[in-house]
Amino acid sequence: MSFNHLSSVEAAAMIPHGATVGFSGFTPAGSAKSIPVAIASHARHEHAAGRPYTIRVLAGASTGKYIDHELVQADAVSYRAPYQSDSLMRGKINEGKIAFVDMHLSHFPQMVLQGFLGKLDFAVIEATEVTADGRVYLTTSIGASPAFLQAAKKVFIEINHKQNPRLREMADILVPPTPPNRNILPITHVGAKVGKPYAEVDPAKIVGIVETDAMDDVEPFTTQNGCAEKIASHVADFLVKERKSGRIPVEFLPLQAGIGNTCNAIMGKLGNCPDIPDFSMYTEVCQNSLLDLIDAGRLKMISTTALTLTNDYMQRVFSNIDHYAKHIVLRPQDISNNPEVIRRLGVISINTALEVDLMGHVNSSHVMGTKIMNGIGGSGDFTRNAYVSIFVCPALAKGGAISSIVPMCAHVDHNEHSVGVIVTDQGYADLRGKAPRERAHLVIDHCAHPEFRDDLWRYLRSVSDVHVPHNLTRAFAMHRQYQLAGSMHGIHWDQFL
Ligand code: COA
Repeated sequence: MSFNHLSSVEAAAMIPHGATVGFSGFTPAGSAKSIPVAIASHARHEHAAGRPYTIRVLAGASTGKYIDHELVQADAVSYRAPYQSDSLMRGKINEGKIAFVDMHLSHFPQMVLQGFLGKLDFAVIEATEVTADGRVYLTTSIGASPAFLQAAKKVFIEINHKQNPRLREMADILVPPTPPNRNILPITHVGAKVGKPYAEVDPAKIVGIVETDAMDDVEPFTTQNGCAEKIASHVADFLVKERKSGRIPVEFLPLQAGIGNTCNAIMGKLGNCPDIPDFSMYTEVCQNSLLDLIDAGRLKMISTTALTLTNDYMQRVFSNIDHYAKHIVLRPQDISNNPEVIRRLGVISINTALEVDLMGHVNSSHVMGTKIMNGIGGSGDFTRNAYVSIFVCPALAKGGAISSIVPMCAHVDHNEHSVGVIVTDQGYADLRGKAPRERAHLVIDHCAHPEFRDDLWRYLRSVSDVHVPHNLTRAFAMHRQYQLAGSMHGIHWDQFL
């Protein structure tokens, strides 16, 4: 079968107003690049002619400039799931202009296949090759693309000549059948391969191939700050002590780390720590610092769904695939984040919180409980099933105006039953096996910033003897103070009787 070759403009013109489109991409890695930009300009053209034009956008997670940023700039998005991290999109969601569904990333492909998000009209998938019998060799991320290829009525493939065709040597792809026909996932060690090096599509659904040649263009992280370094030291201290005590086995356990500056600093610290042996990672994103750890011989094997590497790091991978393919496995996001596998392997999870409360509940996604930051992402997939689940955050946010430790979180992504250890620049609180009041004492003493400890003690002491020490009138006093005064400092507690 030979496929129809199109320009991105011709492809975009075939996608009508109101269509649901699943784009490849998990972070900017492996994202569709030329068709979404052409859709944005098609949308501008339609708007200029007085016609409505928006699409419903699905992608594995966040995407980067080619999809979210371009389409939002063109006012071309009506709906987005399951995660985003773009400032323009965040603004439109929080203004109520884009409907956003925040979901566990491991659930997302299954939800697409089962039709819970509506019918998928189009999939737009970046690949290095598609064969006549429908084998699609994906690029720097796998994400939800295998599910999109199965679920979509029509498919566009972007063949990207800048991506390396040998990326397939890292790929391990399978789409588990829906229950009750699902079998066990026999991943018994991080590097186990249980699938195929390609995704599959019915070739009759492919309406066009578009040629592209753009890199992923991942933005580098900003340089480390002192606060991230302190958090990283506390995480390393905790893990070393746990290993010495025998609660973490001497050969260590696979790690998962969230994306961002703090987790980057933590991985750098663990890589340099002589008391942590060489390790493996069962995680969702491989960022620059992890490639350095592979080269240093510290990171032996990483299972991930995306290679979120800046262009220079990606070139390093491309010029030495023989080496990196021995250390990296790229899986679909429902497998990289699979609860069954995470529990079996005993993964130690490290994710970032926006705020943490005295019981150990964690808010990772909604500022003041109302405004989305990015979303829950994969943090819940790992936290709920981890051997030890760790949350990190600076004790202060917004230049010191906000305490990240609050009496009660204004939104809960991870509850006290799943959260094990809280780490801030002030220290760590190990909440495992602790009753509610014990938790509150540990969190205030070890994690809260000294500037807010008095307020938190005052809150706790104002609560009468109950199992869970909360005062519903005062539980959001610190949030309220921030809304009224632009800072959590200066609360008049007597106002909140
Ligand atoms: N209240 C209000 N804003 C807060 C806050 C709080 N308690 N804590 C942090 N913020 C703000 C920061 O000021 C910053 O905003 P700014 O850039 O406008 O100043 C923003 O949140 C990000 O905080 P930062 O300290 O830079 O941390 P980060 O880049 O590590 O991101 C999360 C932290 C929580 C937003 C991010 O990790 C996330 O989205 N997590 C959820 C998804 C996830 O865990 N994915 C990985 C799973 S594999």
